[in-house]
Amino acid sequence: MYEILCLLTVALVGLQCNASTGDHRVFIENIVKEAMAKVDQDYEYSRRESLSRVRRSRVTPSDILRLLKQPSGLSRSAVRASDYMDHAIQLLQKRSLQEHRVHKRSINATDLIMEEDLKTIADITGCSARLRSPSCKTTPNLERFRTANSECNNKKNSRLGAANIPFTRWLPAKYQDGFSLPAGWDPKVKKNNHLLPLVRKVSNQIFDARTNALTSDPLYTHLVTIFGQWTDHDLTFTPHIPVIRSFNDGIDCAKTCERKEPCFPMVFPENDRRLKNSDSPKCMPFFRSAAACGSGNTGFLFGGRAVRQQLNTLTAYIDSGQVYGSDVSLATKLRDLSSDLGLLRVNAMYNDSGRELLPFTSMTNNMCSSRAAITGETDAQEVPCFIAGDERTNENIALTSLHTLLMREHNRLARALAKLNPHWSGERLYQEARKIMGGYFQVITFRDYLRHIVGPSVIAKRLSTYPGYSEAVDPSISNVFATAAYRFAHLAIQPVIFRLDENFKEHSEFGNVMLHKAFFAPWRIVFEGGVDPILRGLVGQRAKLNTQDNMMNTDLRDRLFKFLDDLALDLAALNLQRGRDHGLPGYNDWRKFCKLSQPRDVDELAAVLNNTELAEALIELYGTPDNIDVFLGGVAEPFVPGGRVGDLFACLISVQFQNIRQGDRLWWENDGVFTGTQRKSMMSASLARIMCDNTGIVEVPERPFEYQPRSGYTKCEKIPSFDLSPWKENEDEEADSTTGKPHDPEYRGPPGPQGPQGPPGPAGSTPAVGFSVRLGESYPKANVPIVFSSVIYNGQDAYDVKKGIFTCVQPGVYEFQFHCTIHGKSGSVDLKRNKELILHSYTTKQSGYLTASGSTLLSLKKGDLVYLIANSGGNGLNKDSYFSGHLLFAV
Ligand SMILES: *[C@@H]1O[C@H](CO)[C@@H](O)[C@H](O)[C@H]1NC(C)=O
Ligand SMILES: *[C@@H]1O[C@H](CO)[C@@H](O)[C@H](O)[C@H]1NC(C)=O
Ligand SMILES: *[C@@H]1O[C@H](CO)[C@@H](O)[C@H](O)[C@H]1NC(C)=O
Repeated sequence: MYEILCLLTVALVGLQCNASTGDHRVFIENIVKEAMAKVDQDYEYSRRESLSRVRRSRVTPSDILRLLKQPSGLSRSAVRASDYMDHAIQLLQKRSLQEHRVHKRSINATDLIMEEDLKTIADITGCSARLRSPSCKTTPNLERFRTANSECNNKKNSRLGAANIPFTRWLPAKYQDGFSLPAGWDPKVKKNNHLLPLVRKVSNQIFDARTNALTSDPLYTHLVTIFGQWTDHDLTFTPHIPVIRSFNDGIDCAKTCERKEPCFPMVFPENDRRLKNSDSPKCMPFFRSAAACGSGNTGFLFGGRAVRQQLNTLTAYIDSGQVYGSDVSLATKLRDLSSDLGLLRVNAMYNDSGRELLPFTSMTNNMCSSRAAITGETDAQEVPCFIAGDERTNENIALTSLHTLLMREHNRLARALAKLNPHWSGERLYQEARKIMGGYFQVITFRDYLRHIVGPSVIAKRLSTYPGYSEAVDPSISNVFATAAYRFAHLAIQPVIFRLDENFKEHSEFGNVMLHKAFFAPWRIVFEGGVDPILRGLVGQRAKLNTQDNMMNTDLRDRLFKFLDDLALDLAALNLQRGRDHGLPGYNDWRKFCKLSQPRDVDELAAVLNNTELAEALIELYGTPDNIDVFLGGVAEPFVPGGRVGDLFACLISVQFQNIRQGDRLWWENDGVFTGTQRKSMMSASLARIMCDNTGIVEVPERPFEYQPRSGYTKCEKIPSFDLSPWKENEDEEADSTTGKPHDPEYRGPPGPQGPQGPPGPAGSTPAVGFSVRLGESYPKANVPIVFSSVIYNGQDAYDVKKGIFTCVQPGVYEFQFHCTIHGKSGSVDLKRNKELILHSYTTKQSGYLTASGSTLLSLKKGDLVYLIANSGGNGLNKDSYFSGHLLFAV
């Protein structure tokens, strides 16, 4: 093999194989040097150009997106290495072709290049280093704390789930040329016998509101939407290629509608409302995502990785990386190392009524000085962007508020831990607080958030009781999750960011803000009343409801990042183009992956979508259901019961979270990660309480994802605070005892369940509607309503103690809660309304027993029946299990 390659090279490049290996290496090195210089020059040009645009306030929405999607720190080196290698190969190939006037079409990207040479190139450019797995032998505290980039979470394959590795693929990519070019790159090339429609055309015809009526979600708050963005920013970040012009011929992507790597512009269809006159730009710029080392053009070296892959610069784990940063350098930068208290840095110039604000970035480029442009006051005081663990912190002020809130919670925890353990170092305080924060979001995501998204049946099927850690499970984020499925929440974004006062009414001084005036506007937090009004708005107002005739609000389709320039972006079009850029297979391929039917024609599609008109519109655009971009197909499906996505996305999202949980060695429920008592505290993690502890808000909905009028809110002092006492460590019992079992009093056996928070008594003199019951006797029958026979309280005898069923007499919105202890290894409890599964218990293992609990709001009609059922295995219920329900308000 070597000889053949060698001969080929000799023939083409004219070098001698044996004698001048030295010369040959120099030749290769020179080519690589040349390529690296060119790439550096283009990086430099792009950076300079972007900065000067920002300084001259000539920044366009596409600049903003690009700056936002810039790889930074270590990710930048990863992307740059790949660009070096890619360009070096292209140069080497070009050189060989020139010298021998070989006809280009007859050769393959790397046919001319010896494998040896590819290795040399990979070494010099730094690409090889990116593919090696570091050893974990010297990593400190491996059993106890996460590394910043999550290397060594998996001890066997140390980069699994770490930052800066390619997204995994659950299905092979489908590029137009088989390995690198997106579908639709050459618009005349058919796919499955049909041309692909322009993404902007799809956006206009399908995503645009086809009715004026924007429907608000009857059940969920806007926090559900922004929380989706929050978790996404813990899990995925796809960097763009950092250059704005092509390496080969210097074409600037922002100035051309030509398709030239890395530019893949989104052309406006005829009659687009943005084609106002003949001078209007004909396209919106689009930059391809950076290719990972050893993929795309550089891929032949690496066997199976030949196809172009995209990088995820974040860790795959739920670890609050958006608070702390996913690489050591950023993580260090965010810490307050001026004292040994384990704190995160805070803003030195401004505060929010005495509470901490995020520090400012020291970057000179400032896309956050949007105040003058938005308010029209030319001499307005501007501020830099805030800095936090994720680069998108300033994207909108609601997201920025969550970042601020959680930075404060870290500092609150670190201070409280320092009081408990005065002997702990700053490093220990930081790591312990960070670990609790990671646990918070694992609990909140699985217990409170996902059930509203994928619905209770999918939770029961894939995300029920923790199955334990498996080293064999790859937690990596899949390309389809990041690029399509987990973008579903874009369709639930309201066109305004709400700002509410203490009475949860629109703030009189700083009222609601149109979304397009809330992008990159940290000054609104600094000068316009801080984060409290925004957080109140998130929990006090509803999400937008994604409906088939009103998918995406106009601010996102026609005013994305528009505040300094006219050429706004279109988020729907961007998502579709991104899917093609990443080579995602089409709708039916993914339906098949999820073992769902694959509609073949209009009628079958209409049945799947439960909407003939929409099916016809899609077929007219795409010709065949096979070609429908997976993002669109996914968000067009009707919701699964109780969820906010259809069957396809419920599948893709739940599979991803299943992997994230099972493939995380430091998952909060995994043995030895937390002590038994610490785990018990973790179970009570509460986003509502976190808001109470770190803001001036005094009253919140206790389950902040579920919408309810203010009358149902809970006073902060009634929400139990997070119990940190299990973190108190005996000073002599030293820092490296990892489990803490010996002094763990709960370890002796199952305690009774956490008592009910006291059955809510009848409100005033109105007749009580509600009940609170205890199981009374252990081991009820499985699969029939559980009979809780011991009555604590049973207003109007609405709960039948013989049948175990609550019958609604007074229509209204009710709150139900249950908390069961199960002896045994498995089991779970379901809450049902008339046979419909409403809530699958949050089931978690404590030392040797399970707790299955849940709480929810439920709207009931007269005669509706509500009851609990123990699933098989779940019949080991302890007699102290309880169930309660009461009327919140009548309707
Ligand atoms: C290009 O290389 C690939 C991988 O070695 C090979 O499968 C393919 O047939 C080649 N194409 C041409 C035109 O030589
Ligand atoms: C917050 O800022 C105000 C105004 O600049 C200042 O007077 C006050 O001392 C600051 N509070 C804290 C706790 O830093
Ligand atoms: C299907 O559509 C009809 C009418 O638009 C609606 O009433 C029904 O609830 C829908 N079914 C599902 C499962 O979404």
